[in-house]
Parts: sequence; structure tokens; C-alpha cells
Amino acid sequence: RSRAMDHLKALIRDVPDFPTKGILFKDITTLLKDADAFGEVIDRMASRYVDDEIDLVAAIESRGFIFGAPLAYELGLGFVPVRKLGKLPAETIEQEYTLEYGSNHLEMHVDAVQPGQRVLIVDDLLATGGTAKATAQLVERLGGIVHGFAFMVELTFLNGRSRLEGYDVFTLIQY
Ligand code: PRP
Ligand code: MG
Repeated sequence: RSRAMDHLKALIRDVPDFPTKGILFKDITTLLKDADAFGEVIDRMASRYVDDEIDLVAAIESRGFIFGAPLAYELGLGFVPVRKLGKLPAETIEQEYTLEYGSNHLEMHVDAVQPGQRVLIVDDLLATGGTAKATAQLVERLGGIVHGFAFMVELTFLNGRSRLEGYDVFTLIQY
């Protein structure tokens, strides 16, 4: 599968030493500005879920929004933003998480997900899985059911998948 996605891989730019020395950053902006490639990514994600019973797409600020919103639209589903601390105006729950570089908090509105609703969690990239795991915890604390996770890119050497064991994890491009 990864060889079949070489034309998309070729549009992702490597930036050495960003955001800190020793990190090879996968810059997706060079893919996003290509209309055919961006469209293909959303279409491929949508076709994976088109026959599934899902109630909501939840995507993670900020790069997850780029994929989550068009995917929700294409699947005909509502969209829920999972945001960084202090951005959501109404009552929230928060969850701490650790990153490849640092730690942070994510928040969701308490009424974003109703008990029993099935939620597809979307982000641009799976690295250590900390961000995705925290999002699953938020959804489940609200009584939602995590339908699965969809990412455009997976950094397999960081083993994020093992942190999401027991969940369905779909990634389009693997490194
Ligand atoms: C990046 C990326 C994922 C997350 C993956 O987001 O967009 O959300 O890290 O890392 P993890 O699997 O180790 O948790 P970042 O927090 O850099 O913020 P951004 O999306 O706002 O750019
Ligand atoms: Mg992010």
C-alpha cells in the first residue's frame, strides 16, 4: 500500500531540525496546495468509511481540521472540533497528553458528543499517538464510542499504533 501512495509521498516535504534540532519534520503544506492530491486524500479517506455507521467526525486542532472538515462534509456527518486549552467558549472537559516534543491539554465541549454516538477521530499525522489517545479519552468520557482513527500520515517508527491498540486505525501514507 505504501508504494501505491508514492505520488502523494513525493509531495510531502522533509524539513530537517524543525521544530527542534534532530527532528525531521514531515511538512504536508506542499501536498495540501496540490488540488488533485488533497482531493485524492479526502476521497480515499471517505471511501474507507462510506458504508460505516458513524455519527460524527471529531478532528484535532489545528492540522486535523484540514482533513476532518472536508471528510465530515463528504460523509454527510457533523463536525466536532477538539481544541487546545482555552479556545472553546462553553462548558468543556479537558485531557492532558504528551507530545513528541512537550505536553499539552485538549478540550471538547461537554455537549459535543451524546452518549452512544459513534465518533470517527481524524488528524493529519500519527506520531507517538498521545494526541489521538487523549481525544479518544475525551470522546469516551462523554459516553461516545470511538469508531476509529483516520490519519493521512503515520510515522511507524514512533509506534503510535500500539498506543491505540484495540481501536481501528487507518493511515494512508506510512514512513
Ligand atoms: C501534531 C500533529 C498531530 C500530533 C501527532 O500536532 O498535527 O496532531 O502532533 O503527535 P502525537 O501522535 O505524538 O501525539 P501539533 O500538536 O504539533 O499541533 P498542530 O496540529 O496545531 O500543528
Ligand atoms: Mg496536530
